[in-house]
Amino acid sequence: MVTALAFILFACVASSTGEDSPDIIPVPGGLSGTGITTRYWDCCKPSCSWRENLRNTSADPVTSCAIDGNTVIDPEAMSNCGGGPSYMCSNQQPFVVNSTLAYGFAGASFTGKADYQLCCGCVLLSFTGALSHKKMVVQVTNTGADAVANQFDLALPGGGVGINNGCISQWNAPPDGWGKRYGGVDTEAECDQLPRQLQDGCRFRFEFMESVSNPSVNFVQVECPKEIVDRSHCNLK
Ligand SMILES: *[C@@H]1O[C@H](CO)[C@@H](O)[C@H](O)[C@H]1NC(C)=O
Ligand SMILES: *[C@@H]1O[C@H](CO)[C@@H](O)[C@H](O)[C@H]1NC(C)=O
Repeated sequence: MVTALAFILFACVASSTGEDSPDIIPVPGGLSGTGITTRYWDCCKPSCSWRENLRNTSADPVTSCAIDGNTVIDPEAMSNCGGGPSYMCSNQQPFVVNSTLAYGFAGASFTGKADYQLCCGCVLLSFTGALSHKKMVVQVTNTGADAVANQFDLALPGGGVGINNGCISQWNAPPDGWGKRYGGVDTEAECDQLPRQLQDGCRFRFEFMESVSNPSVNFVQVECPKEIVDRSHCNLK
């Protein structure tokens, strides 16, 4: 009897694969639906780093960093993409939790225009199609001014700079960024062009995401995992 009970307790903390299996907790009444993903890394200060963009919460804004990508900077500092000293922090790149789950950050719109309602909120993205065995929890750190409804623009270094290329002033990146302006690098080997501290996040697309480009998703709003909040310092609760 004691042995059986011990087995059941053990089964609750580790998955059958022996890998970490953190609790992912849905937010009652939260957003959910189907959506698309794209990718970007423009080095600009993310828009949820402005206190006034966190309209419905007293949460601290998403951390933004000095030119080194590591030193947290005053949230009132202007974005480098507006001529100021503030950049995306390098640790707001994706990271693997276990072989089927990763955490990361994204720009998102649920309305098809700049959308501040979920600044600092988190969603569980369940990829569909070729990547249907993988999931990712992302925190919304950017508001997707040029996005369509239910678009998640994943913050993936080397994923394309898009409209603004803040990576020129920060990392001396090429005029259109690494690879193509939209979509970024095409091969994992090209990730070597990025600064060392962004290379793991670049390789993530070819390793964890198995080179699947812009997979579709089902999404559900969840509580933000501690490991994400530890990086962004922003938590809706
Ligand atoms: C990874 O963690 C998630 C969430 O706890 C879990 O559902 C999944 O089974 C884990 N994956 C593996 C391979 O253990
Ligand atoms: C704030 O919350 C209200 C009510 O929940 C909602 O209608 C509104 O869209 C939210 N404001 C923003 C800026 O998202």
